Amino acid sequence: MVKFVLPICLLTAVACTSDPRGKTIVFPVSSVGAEADVLRAQIARFEEERPDIRVVLRETPDSADQRHQLYVQWLAAGAGDPDVLQLDVIWTPEFASAGWILPLGAFEIDETVFFPGTLRANRWRGELYAIPWFVDVGMLYWRTDKLDAPPATLEELEQRAVAAKRRGEVEHGLVWQGARYEGLVCVFLEHLGAFGGRILDEKGRPAVDTEPGRQALEFLRRSIGEDGFVPRAVLTWQEEQTRFAFQSGRALFLRNWPYAYPLLQDPEESEVAGKFAVAPFPGTANGAPTAALGGSQLAINARSRHPEAAFALIEYLISPERMLERARAAGQLPPRRDLYDDPSLAAELAEALPIPPDEARRVVEAAVPRPVTPVYTELSSVLQVWLHRALSGEVGTDEALREATDAMTDVLDRTTARRDAS
Ligand code: GLC
Repeated sequence: MVKFVLPICLLTAVACTSDPRGKTIVFPVSSVGAEADVLRAQIARFEEERPDIRVVLRETPDSADQRHQLYVQWLAAGAGDPDVLQLDVIWTPEFASAGWILPLGAFEIDETVFFPGTLRANRWRGELYAIPWFVDVGMLYWRTDKLDAPPATLEELEQRAVAAKRRGEVEHGLVWQGARYEGLVCVFLEHLGAFGGRILDEKGRPAVDTEPGRQALEFLRRSIGEDGFVPRAVLTWQEEQTRFAFQSGRALFLRNWPYAYPLLQDPEESEVAGKFAVAPFPGTANGAPTAALGGSQLAINARSRHPEAAFALIEYLISPERMLERARAAGQLPPRRDLYDDPSLAAELAEALPIPPDEARRVVEAAVPRPVTPVYTELSSVLQVWLHRALSGEVGTDEALREATDAMTDVLDRTTARRDAS
């Protein structure tokens, strides 16, 4: 008797996992701020429109690096699920070159509706592999009840932050993401740009061991020093910890992405609702105000068993209406330029966004991408380690920049050697 029980159970288990409603697609997503609620509502409507497709959402960690690790584990194992992938803007070349995501040439996509800069990072060897979903740009949040205008230069930011702290008006002058993870590289890139520098030069070689690199890292180090204006605790902080510090009224300035805006504006949660505005993170006379380009893209797992269903979901999520909803609920900037160009859509966008669409458009078009290369994650890990060591005072800034340059050069040389050999 017992012999027959096992196969019957197995059969039942198989029958239970295949959905009677049709295809099931798995979609892991980030849920920082209000993102998760708006997405859940959109998915529910999508499932009503497409009763043949069931979408299973899987929550992923807030940290960009932990999310990356998780995706690499899934994809390197050759799993067919997840089907739809939410990629950080810096991952597309890596995942495309590894053969983990589908080239999208076979699907009908009108590329002309997107800002060209947002598509650039999603191409690999001339083919499009992911579609921009929302754009993130680094911004300076400032307290309108304490200042008449945002600082025009980085020096002015420093002076105002120090003065407000000395007067005891705030506990912290500025808060940014300083933990050893991707966010720190974004903060560094913005300071680097402020002093006129960049991570790689036009030839694709490391460019941080330079005068602007030194000035930027020195500035960051001084900011968290004894007489500084950034709390040392930022060395363990990611986006949400910095938002909480600003939201509780403890900081004059905050560097963060657009998602924080609607949350800070919520009087139930935030002490600074109605008392802040956003501006570009300022530059110095030698550089320019620089916003890091971030954001999420949607791609399809090359091993998905349901690529058409996966694309149907992507198509739904990138429609103008869905992007407007996301802008309204989560403050995220849409990568579609028709939303900024078409007068009726632009009027809706103006209502939804924290900054006027013209200004949002300028910021998006001028935002500075991180290096677009399949070895970006390796380059970033090197930078994260050495920047963090310099900021925690374990090594000097010169040594950190020299070591980071050597290690990045090794990564790039190894890649060139691999490419030449193949
Ligand atoms: C945001 C950005 C992403 C960036 C990350 C760093 O999620 O969209 O591009 O890598 O922050 O923390």
